[in-house]
Amino acid sequence: MNKDQLTDLLHQMTLTEKIDQLVMLDNSFFQKDAAITGPQVKLGISEDVIRNIGSAYNVIGADKVRKLQDEHMKNSRLHIPLLFCGDVIYGLKTVMPIPLGYSCSWDPETIEKGMSIVADEASASGIHTVFSPMLDLSRDPRWGRVMEGLGEDPYLASQIAASEIKGLQGNLDSHHVASCIKHFAAYGAAEGGRDYNSVDMSERKLRQEYLKPYQSAVQAGAKMVMPSFNTINGIPSTANKWLLKKVLEEEWGFHGVKVSDYAAIQELVYHGYAEDAYDAAEKAIHCGVNFDMKTSVYANYLQKDVEDGRVKEEEIDEAVMQILNIKNELGLFEDPYRQASVKEETARQYTEESRRTVKKLADESVVLLENHDVLPLNKNQKIALIGPMADSKGTLGMWAFNTDASRNRTLREELTERVGQENVKYAWGCDFVDSMDALGDIGKFFHPEAPRNLIEEKQKALEAADASDVIVFTMGEHAMQSGEASSRTDLSLPSCQMSLLHEFKKMRKPVVVLIYSGRPLLLQEAADNSDALLQVYWPGSEGASAVADVLTGKINPSGKLTMSMPRSMGQIPVYYSQLKTGRPLQGSGHTGKFVSKYLDCPNSPLYCFGYGLSYTDFTISQLSLDNPYMNKTEPLHAVIHIKNIGNCKGDTIVQLYIHDEAGTIARPVKELIDFKSITLEAGEEKDITFGISEEKLRYYDANMDYITEPGKFMLYAGLNSEECIETEFTYQL
Ligand code: BGC
Repeated sequence: MNKDQLTDLLHQMTLTEKIDQLVMLDNSFFQKDAAITGPQVKLGISEDVIRNIGSAYNVIGADKVRKLQDEHMKNSRLHIPLLFCGDVIYGLKTVMPIPLGYSCSWDPETIEKGMSIVADEASASGIHTVFSPMLDLSRDPRWGRVMEGLGEDPYLASQIAASEIKGLQGNLDSHHVASCIKHFAAYGAAEGGRDYNSVDMSERKLRQEYLKPYQSAVQAGAKMVMPSFNTINGIPSTANKWLLKKVLEEEWGFHGVKVSDYAAIQELVYHGYAEDAYDAAEKAIHCGVNFDMKTSVYANYLQKDVEDGRVKEEEIDEAVMQILNIKNELGLFEDPYRQASVKEETARQYTEESRRTVKKLADESVVLLENHDVLPLNKNQKIALIGPMADSKGTLGMWAFNTDASRNRTLREELTERVGQENVKYAWGCDFVDSMDALGDIGKFFHPEAPRNLIEEKQKALEAADASDVIVFTMGEHAMQSGEASSRTDLSLPSCQMSLLHEFKKMRKPVVVLIYSGRPLLLQEAADNSDALLQVYWPGSEGASAVADVLTGKINPSGKLTMSMPRSMGQIPVYYSQLKTGRPLQGSGHTGKFVSKYLDCPNSPLYCFGYGLSYTDFTISQLSLDNPYMNKTEPLHAVIHIKNIGNCKGDTIVQLYIHDEAGTIARPVKELIDFKSITLEAGEEKDITFGISEEKLRYYDANMDYITEPGKFMLYAGLNSEECIETEFTYQL
């Protein structure tokens, strides 16, 4: 449709039809008995509204989508198609590693490809918009949703965010989808790491760090935005004018669609920010929130708001027009199914090529934390493969519930294929948790395993270990312990796992520990009691194959952490880009006691941002600049010399950081400004060049102007954020 036709359509709509267009309901509303027993009654929403709503979400499968769309088009007086949205976060059928995992690849290009698979598979099933990517920066591993995010760093997350949008949206043809970025904003900074909790943060920190990834996604053309559940400095995002109107629309030029998070408009009342639903509807629409997800607030109260003069009909018109626009951009008026069909699903889902891409991402996401001459495994060694993930297909993490996990392979199958049946002795050994209570209310349903005799199982594991040369032990947390509403206050490994590890240690055999988790856990004790330690997060559909390839040396690990791993709970939040304080641990005028530190724990994390080992070793040297001075028009060039000094080929990621020595506000000790991935043969060496332009140095100064202040900067290059070589330069006006 052209613009005039769209305007004409809008003009034909009654006020009720317009308001119904702003309603988004999930699959449960379209079941046979929904009207009698189900959600419809609970929400107090009429059948007329349901027949006319603008969008449905989490209706999965081309068949279902087509049926619902047909039915809807018949009922809709003006034949306005439904927009189908879905929680397809990192894979519908072929599943990537969880985002926290794939961010460790530092490979935006392959992530873009991965996201284009997500889009292709989702659109084959009739989904038009995915509620992804989640761009909430987080430095608090207590928060269970860190698994859906890209870690702690604004620069890296912004680079990946842009590639995620490109991959998902492409040219918005029928193989792509609209991306709804979430949760705007700063949802990851919930106080105490408790999900849905409030966020209090200076505007500077918000703009300088937390808003950056969303901004990058908006610049990359993200079509939709989901405001977050939390309050920011007292105001819930869903009705936060400053955030949704000033920053998002006026400053960033976003004119797409805003989708409330699940029941978030209703929750304005629970926040104590709206008096009742009538007030909540007014407040959300004033902020241009187009869709009311899963409540009847717009449906039942907006009309009255208009009649009472609290909301102008033009505001509703604007919100509806934006929805019609996205439907039009997606081509729904021409083809309301966008070619989705069972045939397309068969052709486009679980393809060999998709599996190859997610395998590559899984390979690149594994982070080698420790290796004391154990890995890669020698193919003639007898391996005891033990633990709750050793023979499990549950490699996917919380947000991948529409795939057929029975297609996944287990580590036991993959390893056996590589080293032979006679070399793998499997035992389950122990569970992820000491008690089912650790999984919370819903979690228990997702732990379908029949109860086992724990004493016998432990014994079998010890026997398998005893009869083997090396022990590979899969440890970590249960998949239902991370994700939404899965905050935790104790991130240590449970005693059922640790007691087994201690027994293995006593056997004086090499122990390799694999950590499956949706967040950084406390790994000191696991590191002390093992000979190699690998962080694999939830590695996706091809996860087992990737892990087996890493264990046996076909893949040399290259992943680098994107979230620091704490030594203890009391250290949280621990992240690399902190400020120095007036009494830094090193280099302060004070000695001993009176510096910024803990009495019982070092300041540094156990494993820092950017950290990850390889089966080879690299050295970096000679960080040189082409000029000790720079200004706005003349960028600097930094050259770094890197050499593979080990005896096999390897990939690594060279990271570039800055520190502004003095400014009108204090600046972080280090900030990532660039990175490059490099592959070197054994003994090979190379120079890598980075351009440093003035924009890379900018920050919000004391007046909140986004500028580069003149003065001295330190430049650091390293293979992680702690061990760097350095030089300095001066920025001049
Ligand atoms: C989550 C969103 C999700 C939505 C729809 C909410 O509870 O916060 O991330 O997209 O539900 O399922």
